[in-house]
Amino acid sequence: MTDRKGIILAGGTGSRLHPITIGISKQLLPIYDKPMIFYPLSVLMLAGIREIAVITTPHDRAQFERTLGDGSQWGLSLTYIEQPSPDGLAQAYLLAADFLDGAPSVMVLGDNIFFGHGLPEQLARAGRLTTGGTVFGYRVNDPERYGVVDFAEDGSVRAIVEKPDIPPSRYAVTGLYFLDGTAPERARAVQPSDRGELEITSLLESYLSEGQLQVQQMGRGYAWLDTGTHASLLDAGNFVRTLSQRQGQQVGCPEEIAFLSGWISAADLEARADLFAKTDYGSYLRGLL
Ligand code: TTP
Repeated sequence: MTDRKGIILAGGTGSRLHPITIGISKQLLPIYDKPMIFYPLSVLMLAGIREIAVITTPHDRAQFERTLGDGSQWGLSLTYIEQPSPDGLAQAYLLAADFLDGAPSVMVLGDNIFFGHGLPEQLARAGRLTTGGTVFGYRVNDPERYGVVDFAEDGSVRAIVEKPDIPPSRYAVTGLYFLDGTAPERARAVQPSDRGELEITSLLESYLSEGQLQVQQMGRGYAWLDTGTHASLLDAGNFVRTLSQRQGQQVGCPEEIAFLSGWISAADLEARADLFAKTDYGSYLRGLL
């Protein structure tokens, strides 16, 4: 079986965070003590993914490369792909087609933060399916902002509706997609929507119409945080700060996952701790040794 590969979609305009995001990519803004992209990266790592493409805008690419490098510090292989303009989430599969080379994938949006007990098990369950796709439904107060799951009477999924005026349920589809190797080919058939984007819901529809899409629920014990507005960005930072200070455990720490997974050695971890010696993050890494 071909190993599953990862995609972090970290382009976009971040227009709801202007004027901050005029000079810097949203996904590099701090969520308390680390760049936003560390959190979705950690989710891919928890899913056991080591070969990852980071999709960025052409002008932000250099900053991502400076922040993440080639990934070897975490035992990963990172590739960078440019998205010339933000033409929709499904476009990621067209841009990454050569990188994927027929492999199944996990794509995560670069501004999505997931936290919850049992997340690795839930990811493992999705990762075991070799055909079709899995997405995650999460109950929200404002479903009209998202792709929303329309459930049939028997609990099966009838449709996923993009930003509906009248949401068919409160379950939003989160920005984490496990799709099989046919995703790029299916994405090629997706037509731009009225707003001119290649919608991920259209791609998911292609799986759904063949009975090939699973929707796993992320229950109330999970946090799926929004970081797209000034207030939600601050809230996400405070959430991470509260949790990590109370527990003395990091949220979204790539070094920790890499070390516990055996992808980097104690010496590698120590080198990272030295690099961040002046921070609590560095002390935390040292404490793992
Ligand atoms: P959005 O939140 O829809 O868009 P955005 O991040 O540009 O923000 P805003 O609405 O404030 O203008 O995007 C969700 C994620 O997907 C985010 O991480 C950016 C990324 N994205 C791309 O990389 N390429 C795209 O074509 C789109 C639409 C989004």
